[in-house]
Amino acid sequence: MTKTLSGLNKSFLLGIGSYVPDRVLGNEELSKKVETSDEWIRTRTGIRERRIAGSDQATSDLALMAAKRAIQSAKMELSQIDLVIVATITPDMAFPSTACLLQHKLGLGKVACFDIEAACSGFLYALDVADGMLASGRYKCALVIGAEKMSSILDWEDRSTCVLFGDGAGAAVLSVNAEGPALLGFRSGADGSNPSLLQQPGGGSMRPASSSTLENREHYLKMNGKEIFKSAVRVMEKATRELLAAHGFSTNDVAHVIPHQANVRIVESMANRLEIPLGKFYCNLDRHGNTSAASIPIALDEAYRKNIFKKGDLVVLVAFGAGLTWSATLVRF
Ligand code: ACO
Repeated sequence: MTKTLSGLNKSFLLGIGSYVPDRVLGNEELSKKVETSDEWIRTRTGIRERRIAGSDQATSDLALMAAKRAIQSAKMELSQIDLVIVATITPDMAFPSTACLLQHKLGLGKVACFDIEAACSGFLYALDVADGMLASGRYKCALVIGAEKMSSILDWEDRSTCVLFGDGAGAAVLSVNAEGPALLGFRSGADGSNPSLLQQPGGGSMRPASSSTLENREHYLKMNGKEIFKSAVRVMEKATRELLAAHGFSTNDVAHVIPHQANVRIVESMANRLEIPLGKFYCNLDRHGNTSAASIPIALDEAYRKNIFKKGDLVVLVAFGAGLTWSATLVRF
């Protein structure tokens, strides 16, 4: 069993997998629903198309497909998994958790299952939590998933938000008794002082579902895009620098960055501020848009399958999201 300097067990990525629905919604088609254009969306965000789940697919169904692929890539038996964490802001329902629903669909044993809600940072928060639970020695093998059906909470009459998001899921299998890409460290934080920057105000205990919440379209995602943009660049730069410094690395040591896939201009600004060449940032947001908690694991899976990681590469995964939350993970391939 490998020990880190702090004496805790270090966890490893044994397998990854992802899934996006078949249905492609391109900018041209979207511009027939709301007053927008392919040109506006591409130049302001870098997004060309996104995937949209079918009406018969809930978030747990997207998670199921990604989980099966991750377990297959890890060459694990279902019986070896003893912890399931799903990161999502679009759970199948308020409760039970999507992780519990997934456990049954996947045919897992009666193992620990719960959801994490940290918006687009959710998958990295979930890795941080899973790593700690594995390090405790009380769990042996974790299935960690970011899954979202963002299309279910988008206001398809609001052009400032509906063009930005897509549906999908990504999953990873983690264990301490293993070899593979090592999770070296984490840096997670949050600033809850301004929740109205990005929220889904209706349907919770503050504003329970009612005819007035429906009339006011409060069950949809609301966002102040300009403010989120500025905060996103600042917090992702800070989290990356702090994480690297905490482990004795500088930005020059980074081989690749998998950033949250929200907007290509956010990625460009972050690359500039970190003075890491843009070519080291893996981007697939042109094809998927922002899939929230699924964004990092889908990008990680794609990059992994394209063999862009070489043995020994230091890779930063970094995200921000509603809360505001942020999280960065350092991986040694
Ligand atoms: N098509 C055409 N015009 C549009 C559209 C659209 N889809 N959306 C907005 N506009 C208009 C606006 O109405 C505005 O018009 P006006 O000047 O007449 O008022 C104009 O375009 C400019 O709007 P801005 O908001 O200033 O555009 P900006 O350049 O800031 O880009 C964007 C907006 C893309 C939302 C950007 O601010 C952004 O990406 N912000 C970050 C969002 C983000 O990352 N969110 C994810 C958070 S993660 C999570 O947890 C879910």
